[in-house]
Amino acid sequence: MSDTDYTKGQILFEEENHKVIWLGWEKEEGAGAIQTNQYLVVHGTKGILLDPGGVHLFPRVVAIISRYIDIDNIETILFSHQDPDVSSGIALWLGVTKAEIYISELWMRFVPHFGLVDFSRLKGIADAGGSVHLSSGADIEMLPAHYLHSPGNFSFFDPLSGILFSSDIGGAVFPDNEHYLYVDNFETHLPLIEGFHQRLMTSNKVCANWAGRMKKKPVAMIAPQHGAIYKGESVNAFFSWLSDLKCGSDILEKFI
Ligand SMILES: [Fe+2]
Ligand SMILES: [Fe+2]
Repeated sequence: MSDTDYTKGQILFEEENHKVIWLGWEKEEGAGAIQTNQYLVVHGTKGILLDPGGVHLFPRVVAIISRYIDIDNIETILFSHQDPDVSSGIALWLGVTKAEIYISELWMRFVPHFGLVDFSRLKGIADAGGSVHLSSGADIEMLPAHYLHSPGNFSFFDPLSGILFSSDIGGAVFPDNEHYLYVDNFETHLPLIEGFHQRLMTSNKVCANWAGRMKKKPVAMIAPQHGAIYKGESVNAFFSWLSDLKCGSDILEKFI
């Protein structure tokens, strides 16, 4: 890790009325839990929180959010899928914000098992996706990413910043205490993503389909839920690699 204090988070994009903030890492990744990334989009005075994660991250995530926005002004929370590292803090987030929470309609009846209390603020995303609108004016696109890895999975795209919040797609597993925020060299980053994608992603068909759709968007950065953020040349390098990847059912004999 460089001298940058990554526990404080970092602004990924900033214009007068629009900011995207990466919400930092824990000082030490605890008890074998995989490192995760949380993101906040602020437009005017309103905000959208993406994949805020579980209970043990809550103090750090809330502290960094509070530097940029009043927590009461978070209008929307987006969950890319139902995994505990994404959505197990749902009851807590419903308690401290007034936000509506969006998740694939496939998982609506499953997340209450994480302790949900207010079903009226839970919104199902239809399989075809759509967009979510902030009252201050911005829209975030909800793009199908089914079977990558969850059967009901979405990536989210912010057209104002060009940041694609890709969920587990693009995720890296860092060795202990060896973190970096941006992928500077795709070839040296590859060993950290290869096994993760081979085991978690469903098949080449779904990988190539997603990469083909995303390549048509003006993507400036790919911000995954684990590992480092792709920008510059590493964006297209990742799309190309994923398009050719054999994984999941393609190489099933490797896992059984
Ligand atoms: Fe996941
Ligand atoms: Fe994940």
